[in-house]
Amino acid sequence: MPDSPSGSPELTRRPEWTALENHRTDALPQPDLRELFAADPGRAERYVVRVGDLRIDYSKHLINDETLALLQELAAATGVSGLRDAMFRGERINITEDRAVLHTALRAPRDAVIEVDGENVVPGVHAVLDRMAAFADRVRSGEWTGHTGKRIRNVVNIGIGGSDLGPAMAYEALRPFSARELTFRFVSNVDGSDLHEAVRDLDPAETLFIVASKTFTTIETITNATSARSWLLEGLGGDEKAVAKHFVALSTNAEKVAGFGIDVDNMFEFWDWVGGRYSYDSAIGLSLMIAIGPDRFREMLDGFRIVDEHFRNAPAEANAPLLMGLLGIWYGNFLDAQSHAVLPYSHYLSKFTAYLQQLDMESNGKSVDRDGNPVQWQTGPVVWGTPGTNGQHAYYQLIHQGTKLIPADLIGFARPVAELNDELKAQHDLLMANLFAQGQALAFGKTSEEVRAEGVPEEQVPHRTFQGNHPTTTILATELTPSVLGQLIALYEHKVFVQGAVWNIDSFDQWGVELGKVLAKRVEPALTEGADVPGLDPSTAALVAAYRNLREV
Ligand code: F6P
Repeated sequence: MPDSPSGSPELTRRPEWTALENHRTDALPQPDLRELFAADPGRAERYVVRVGDLRIDYSKHLINDETLALLQELAAATGVSGLRDAMFRGERINITEDRAVLHTALRAPRDAVIEVDGENVVPGVHAVLDRMAAFADRVRSGEWTGHTGKRIRNVVNIGIGGSDLGPAMAYEALRPFSARELTFRFVSNVDGSDLHEAVRDLDPAETLFIVASKTFTTIETITNATSARSWLLEGLGGDEKAVAKHFVALSTNAEKVAGFGIDVDNMFEFWDWVGGRYSYDSAIGLSLMIAIGPDRFREMLDGFRIVDEHFRNAPAEANAPLLMGLLGIWYGNFLDAQSHAVLPYSHYLSKFTAYLQQLDMESNGKSVDRDGNPVQWQTGPVVWGTPGTNGQHAYYQLIHQGTKLIPADLIGFARPVAELNDELKAQHDLLMANLFAQGQALAFGKTSEEVRAEGVPEEQVPHRTFQGNHPTTTILATELTPSVLGQLIALYEHKVFVQGAVWNIDSFDQWGVELGKVLAKRVEPALTEGADVPGLDPSTAALVAAYRNLREV
């Protein structure tokens, strides 16, 4: 295999890679967590990294000190820290789009200086945050009223991908901190049912639409926003002036916002150096800011910043995103894991994994390296999961006793939210007992001897044996505050970064979603008008014909 055009050796030809392969086959041919703990009981305390309010326990991984050292050597050889520093400096590390990658500037302090093309971007970030705060306060206080003078009681965010998943996830996560008298809904799907269900019980006179789109060209968002405008105007007697009081935009594209009919005075901007999936701490978080208030929003930004600083400055062996990224590489590249489960033991994190799916899979779902060569190694995993206790009664069976290796993150909090009554608060220990029990069962399983010792009939022993050795990371914090949410998101952002850097892929473009968009536009006339679509393949043409026939029935 030739060296890449940039002159760096192919990843799998690096001596550090080979050393890990040898370690896998010679030192840890069948890694066994019972044996690893027996040989090194201190790992329960040693394999813990702390960042901000997060305590990250990685002792239940199929690794030893040597594995960690070899993974660190791979990170050093592949230049992870150099690329990290280039990102923080504002260099154009998104090479295919020739853009800087500066979501970290969104949470930089006011006095920071971060330059893109010689211009400090930090004052602009804070100017928008201040405008958002003023607007959020006006909506929260009732000072901002709708067209008829009624106060706003409903906020509907219309966006998709990064313009939906972040605010929707964070709103759910921080509901206990939200203005409970306001209703928040998130519309993303171009299926008209999504908007219908979101607005059917709302009074247009009390409803604010936030149209969130970086490009302001995304067909789902523009279609839904157009329908929302019709719904509003129909409900308010057709006066076009109503739009200015009921629509705001979050975008990088003032021209398109104006073209849509939203006053650019009601636009909150962000910049091309903020990727969609890295954007909810930008103007894209306006709905969240209205929900939790500007102070809480800033606490969340502080949380992001704690992890940014840690990622930048902590030594490699105590660097949480680096360690988590490298563990993923160990499983994906050396132990053939295909997926990664994220299992929060918190109802409020019900959308957390869906958010991470875009963050991780849109970033690292790539099969060419930064020079455009096909990669000869596995890249991003399939990320999946739902809140843990529900998952236990659904798919955990496969993790425990199936044939696949599925590393998992278990996330939990020491305290339930303050507003629960005492009886509900008391359920929290049971919730967390489940988290700890699952980590234990996954790691250590139950041997056939232990099963037999319980008097289980011999023919049932294989069915009741748990092989164990299913690795988990346990992330604990005292409670799910805005700051802790920011810390968690930054942790995963940088974990994804680390993996992309080692794999030598561009984690910041997303060309893979383009083809489907183009084809949908091309196919649509065949559905609506029965138009002949040149180049439609026979299978899709037959499906379109069947669809049209079914519609006629
Ligand atoms: O799915 C592709 C994508 O470009 C995402 O990266 C982005 O978050 C989403 O579409 C929405 O894009 P926009 O904010 O421009 O509407």
